[in-house]
Amino acid sequence: MDLSAMQHRSIRSFKATAIDYQTLEAVAQATSSSEFLQSFSLIRVTDTALRAKIAKISGSQVLFQPNGELFIFVVDTARAIRLTEPNSDVHTFTNWNAFLAGAFDAILALQNMLAYAERTDLGGVVLGSILNDPQQMIDLLHLPKYTFPLVGLMVGVPAERPQQKPRLPQALVVGDNAYPTFDQATMADYDAAVTRYYAQRGADARAESFTSLVRRHLGANQQHRDEIGQILKAQGFDLPQA
Ligand SMILES: Cc1cc2nc3c(=O)[nH]c(=O)nc-3n(C[C@H](O)[C@H](O)[C@H](O)COP(=O)(O)O)c2cc1C
Repeated sequence: MDLSAMQHRSIRSFKATAIDYQTLEAVAQATSSSEFLQSFSLIRVTDTALRAKIAKISGSQVLFQPNGELFIFVVDTARAIRLTEPNSDVHTFTNWNAFLAGAFDAILALQNMLAYAERTDLGGVVLGSILNDPQQMIDLLHLPKYTFPLVGLMVGVPAERPQQKPRLPQALVVGDNAYPTFDQATMADYDAAVTRYYAQRGADARAESFTSLVRRHLGANQQHRDEIGQILKAQGFDLPQA
């Protein structure tokens, strides 16, 4: 059995070694694509001033260090709209279905890139924190209408090998033919496993269970995330609330 796909851990510290980013970009493009529309674009950030601005938005320490490659995955239906011009009704490319297709394409491409990186002794971390200020990301990257900066990915040669974070017990996540049953005792065991994980994190050690983490998240500062709906609308997406 090949368990290499279960070795994932996020890497947030990289060596100053150059990587073959072109192969990574090609791997991202080789991913499955909803209706073969390839509704995403990929931006590699090499400009240090631009990266510093993105670091400030994200707040992730990994971006403040000079090493590693930064990629931004962008939902993109602008290309399809350009190819169907003149077109008075672009709804097919601005509705929920189109936006979700772009999000699927972008996220799957990201995960394909990360998985390939991990298979080739590189590592990386997903950066959802670019959404702390989507409008500034749009401005910084000169993103046109019908695009949206969904997520970032840092990839590089790992300068650390963190412990793996224990995942939820399979019985709580996987159901046979129906939603999995929630078992409090199984959850308590998992809370204990997560508590052990956080207690062993050296300088980063803290008292934390999975339940305490989720509860703390309830009151977390969501920064600009409540504005995402308005920003998507301004970008041309027509995504009514249910
Ligand atoms: C959509 C998404 C967004 C994420 N955003 C960030 C981020 O902004 N900063 C960060 O340090 N890690 C980020 N992560 C990484 C998670 O914190 C990490 O995957 C999680 O803690 C589990 O740890 P592991 O990947 O080491 O198993 C993100 C992961 C996902 C899937």
